[in-house]
Order: sequence, then structure tokens, then C-alpha cells
Amino acid sequence: MASKVIKGGTIVTADLTYDADVKIEGGVITEIGPNLSGDEVLDATGAYIMPGGIDPHTHLEMPFMGTYSSDDFESGTRAAVAGGTTMVVDFCLPDPNQSLLEAITRWDNKSSRANCDYSFHMAITWWGEQVFNEMPEVTKRGINTFKHFMAYKGALMVDDDEMYSSFKRCAEIGALPLVHAENGDVVAQMQAQLLAEGNNGPEAHAYSRPAAVEGEATNRAIMIADMAGVPVYIVHTSSEQAHEAIRRARQNGIRAYGEPLIQHLTLDDSEYAHPDWDHAARRVMSPPFRNKKHQDSLWAGLQSGSLQVVATDHCAFTTEQKRNGIDNFTLIPNGTGGLEDRMPMLWTHGVGTGRLTMNEFVAVTSTNIAKILNMYPKKGAVLVGADADLVVWDPNKEKTIVADTQQSAIDYNVFEGKHVKGLPRFTLSRGKVVVDDGAVKTEEGHGEFVGREPYTATNKALSKWKQVTAPRKVERTGIPASGV
Ligand code: URP
Ligand code: ZN
Ligand code: ZN
Ligand code: ZN
Repeated sequence: MASKVIKGGTIVTADLTYDADVKIEGGVITEIGPNLSGDEVLDATGAYIMPGGIDPHTHLEMPFMGTYSSDDFESGTRAAVAGGTTMVVDFCLPDPNQSLLEAITRWDNKSSRANCDYSFHMAITWWGEQVFNEMPEVTKRGINTFKHFMAYKGALMVDDDEMYSSFKRCAEIGALPLVHAENGDVVAQMQAQLLAEGNNGPEAHAYSRPAAVEGEATNRAIMIADMAGVPVYIVHTSSEQAHEAIRRARQNGIRAYGEPLIQHLTLDDSEYAHPDWDHAARRVMSPPFRNKKHQDSLWAGLQSGSLQVVATDHCAFTTEQKRNGIDNFTLIPNGTGGLEDRMPMLWTHGVGTGRLTMNEFVAVTSTNIAKILNMYPKKGAVLVGADADLVVWDPNKEKTIVADTQQSAIDYNVFEGKHVKGLPRFTLSRGKVVVDDGAVKTEEGHGEFVGREPYTATNKALSKWKQVTAPRKVERTGIPASGV
């Protein structure tokens, strides 16, 4: 079996930084130590050897708002590895009344073109006996996470009743509910009011989804999860109000997680005031970009551990697709790209500014989510036996982000013109070199599905705690006779 050795670098994991070589055979790490030799040598002199990034929030070829997102599993995962991300977790979205298992088959077909490994979350887009019955089978297929949209009224949105039922089912089957937390009823009415007042431009998208709307829904989702006795993961946490709800819950012993996006950390709401309609519309996503106060809160959350993961919510639409909403902002497809840029942008604005240590960078881009989703240490680790999903990170390599040279299929980049310092020299997907000295060399279909078992240690601990503290009937000695 041919072997590879990454030589001369410094290994950076979520908890350690040390000099060592890494040997790879059969797609896994087989040895870590000094002076290793192998058939092929990758020179990591002056670079850091880190677990490849894991992006737990992507929408590739997603049917949404009357169209499909334009990056599919081929271009999306090519963009991912170009930026040092070696695994994506995409959302499997059943149509209304569609079987969850049928939806998995559709996602299996789409993902067969992936250039790196991937997994799925299942979205609960409707509720009924069939969904309830199929949920355990979904976990048997390696999907232990179920997504709930509190927004997109009339489309993907589920109400509190449905969410509570689904969360209780998640508790029974050892799964983790994920939540898009925005009050969809309030958003829908505010959208209608803004339009009626003639506010039809992309800036009105932001006006219709203020931070309070997100904060309220985040609180509500956490309360419902607590009542159902299940951990909860809030996707695209974008505001201080949402962060505050998560932070407070965690301080009270509730198992809640929060996921800021690289877009919310580095781009602000001034983008919507841009005089060019296309510029503003290209940045329409939910929740919208926020001001510096919210950005500082998200960074502080990553520093303190009250927020655990940085994702992208990569959901890329072309300018032409965005123009569906030229006269009506509610028809602009919601979503932005970021798969290629998440790691370089977070390194530049996090490690490069001293807001994050290198180890914290690894934790929030890879290791934390590998643990939360129950795939550690197969993924998210530099350990013997782990998959060789690695990035050799060159801290001195720099570029200016431009759409012209990106891997994504769309015609612009929301980070256009941003300068980044820190880029992959090599990216390895299960030992295969897919970025070679900066050049992308992917193999379509190389990616494999990663199944994830239910009943994480956190699920088990929480269900034990809920049993210990469950309401109990008081056995009384003195009972007055009835009817007296
Ligand atoms: O605007 C967004 N975030 N689009 C993708 C769908 C979602 O809400 O995550
Ligand atoms: Zn969402
Ligand atoms: Zn999303
Ligand atoms: Zn292959």
C-alpha cells in the first residue's frame, strides 16, 4: 500500500501544538512522530497540519424559493476543499407530505458527485404520523440530526406544536434537533407591511428580520427543547439577542449550542445600503447581516465557548436568480456562498487579529462540530486511526478574494476584494491530495457518506438528568374523604 508522509510541519489540533510528521496509508493516519518516511512526501515546512475543516451547514442544489441553489455537490465540495474544508453536512429537505426516506434517496443521488466526504441532516418540513414513524429509520441511515425552520411561513416553517412533538421524538431516538430561529409569523406580517408602504428593495429584507425576532425564537426553541428533554443546536446565530439566549441557557445547565456564520462575523448591515441593487440583493440571507455590536458579541461567544461552531450556510444563487425579486424583496432567493472562504476569512480575522488562538480556530472549524455530530475522532482529529482529512495550512500564503478565480458556480462573491493571509498549501481528503501546492485537483465522486450514530454522550446524560428530576406524584397519608 502506497504511503504518504507530511513532513516538517507543526501539528495544530483543538488542544495541542507540536512539531511532528504525519504518515498516511489507506486513507487514514497510521503514524505521528519525528523523522517518518513514506513513498510520497508533502513538504509542510513553515506550515501547520490541522484537521480539515467541517462545514455543518450547506445547501447544495437545494430547491428553494422557486429555484435551485446553484452550487451542487460537485462545485460546492470543490470550493470547500480549495479553502481547506474536507467535509460538508447538507440538509436533506423532503417536499410537503414526502417520505423522509424518499428524500434521502434524492440526496444520495445528488451527493454521488461529491469531491470530499459529506453527511446529511434531515429537515422536518411537515409533521404527521408518517414522519414520526420514519424518524428512527432515518437515524438507522446514519442521520442523527433533525432541522426545524421557525421561519419561511407557508413553506418550510413548522409551528411550536409540531416542533415540540418532533423534539420529543428526537429525545426518544437519541437525536439532536437543529433550529433556524426567527419568528416566522412576525416576519411575514412585517414583510407585507413594508411592501405595502413601498419598501420593496433588498434593504427591506433586513428591516423585516430584526435581531429581536431572532432572539425571541431562539429563546422559544431552547425552552421547547428543555421541556422535551433534548439538547438543541441553533444554526446561523447572528445577533447578541440570540447569543444571549444560548449563553444564558448554557449557564443554567441547558445543553444548547450556537453556530455563527463567517458571513455574520465579517460582513455587516451596511451592505444593504449599497446603491447598486445587485450588490445588496446578493447579500440577502436569513438572518440578515447585522451591525458591529452583534459581530463583537459573536466573536466573544467563540472566545468564551458560549458559541461553538463557525459555518457558512452555503446557499449560492446567481445574480440572475437574485433578480427574481427585482420589484419585491420577499422574492429574492435567500442565501449566500462562503464554502471556499470560511477558513481563510476566519484565520485572517480571527487568528490574524488575536481574537482566536490557532487551537480555537481548529475547535470552531472542525473538532467541536465533529464531537457534536458524533463523528469524532474519525473526523476533526489528527490522531492515529482518524481519517486523513487534513489541511496543510500556510500562514504566509495570501490572496485577494475575487469571483473570477473561485470554484463556486456563481458569478460573484460576497467577500469580493477582501484580502486574506493564511491558505491551504495541501488539502487531503481521506489521504487523497485534492489541493496540491495551491492547485485544485479534485476527483468527482471521491466523497463518501459519513453515517453518524444517535445517542451521544450528551443525549444520554441529559435524558438521565431529566429522569432524575422528572415530576413525581406526591404519595400522601392524609387524604380527606371525597364528597364531604
Ligand atoms: O438565507 C438563508 N439562510 N438561506 C438558506 C436557507 C436557510 O435558512 O438556512
Ligand atoms: Zn436557515
Ligand atoms: Zn441554512
Ligand atoms: Zn477516490
